[in-house]
Amino acid sequence: MTTMTSDNDLTNFYETVEILARDAGKVIAEAINKEKKVSVKGIDWDLVTEYDRRVEETVITSLSAKFPSHKFIGEEDVAKEGKPPELTNDPTWIIDPIDGTTNFVHKFPHVCISIALVINKRVEIGIVYNPVIEQFFSAVRGRGAFLNGTRIRTSGVQDLSHALVGMEPWLAKDEKHTISVYSRAHFLIQRTHGIRSLGLAALSLCYVAMGAIEAYHIEGIDPWDVAAGQLIIEEAGGTVVDTTGGVLDLMNPKVIAACNREIAEQIVNLFKETDSITQKKISDFLPLINSNAQ
Ligand code: IPD
Ligand code: CA
Repeated sequence: MTTMTSDNDLTNFYETVEILARDAGKVIAEAINKEKKVSVKGIDWDLVTEYDRRVEETVITSLSAKFPSHKFIGEEDVAKEGKPPELTNDPTWIIDPIDGTTNFVHKFPHVCISIALVINKRVEIGIVYNPVIEQFFSAVRGRGAFLNGTRIRTSGVQDLSHALVGMEPWLAKDEKHTISVYSRAHFLIQRTHGIRSLGLAALSLCYVAMGAIEAYHIEGIDPWDVAAGQLIIEEAGGTVVDTTGGVLDLMNPKVIAACNREIAEQIVNLFKETDSITQKKISDFLPLINSNAQ
């Protein structure tokens, strides 16, 4: 069954969540330079702190008190439950309490809270807030994208050779992705103005939205890393597609985010080219990577 939502409902949802995101931001900004209790979730590079859990719990408790029929997909809740989240047509808040937890642990000032409201499986509200350097990105579907209240638009660059592209090479730690990450990075370095890596997906997507980079690529992430940023990019005039060029699957995101369709298509085609070349060479590469893995 689909859910009916009015413009007034959306405004009410947005105004409520903006206050909560700003309050959460105060907690994150005050904590970043303090010592934290850091633990590992499953794999040794997936970190969590007491602040991730506290912020998520506060946001979910406040939203569910205000909107009791709404559902939630929160990163730390999902980690606790240990089963994959399910997205229905019901209004669902998708929350990453701290995106860039590794940055947060290391006091690297690129961290954010990311909150999206998804209704009928479509993102309607997106907020990404870096309280350390005071960047508050927001969008409500059909009303534009904003940074600290000022309208933002994606870059007008249409030629990949003039683009600056964000990506996250950390995925190379996973043997399934090692070759594609290094080869895609290699080709992006050779065929663009350069690559950048900030260590957090939600904020990097917003950097596409504000025109600071032309594109961003990442795989191996989760809905809470992408949902809010996807709407913010689309409302800023950009596009977010699956790495193969198809429609993005929010629940299993493999992302090419770009300032426009031309740049997205050029990256899709570049990856087709690099992946087919490296597939041929994969048997040469694997022994080398395995012998150097430790
Ligand atoms: C991580 C960041 C990072 C991305 C990882 C995410 P977290 O989120 O977004 O950029 O590469 O896949 O898990 O753990 O800091 O919330
Ligand atoms: Ca997180």
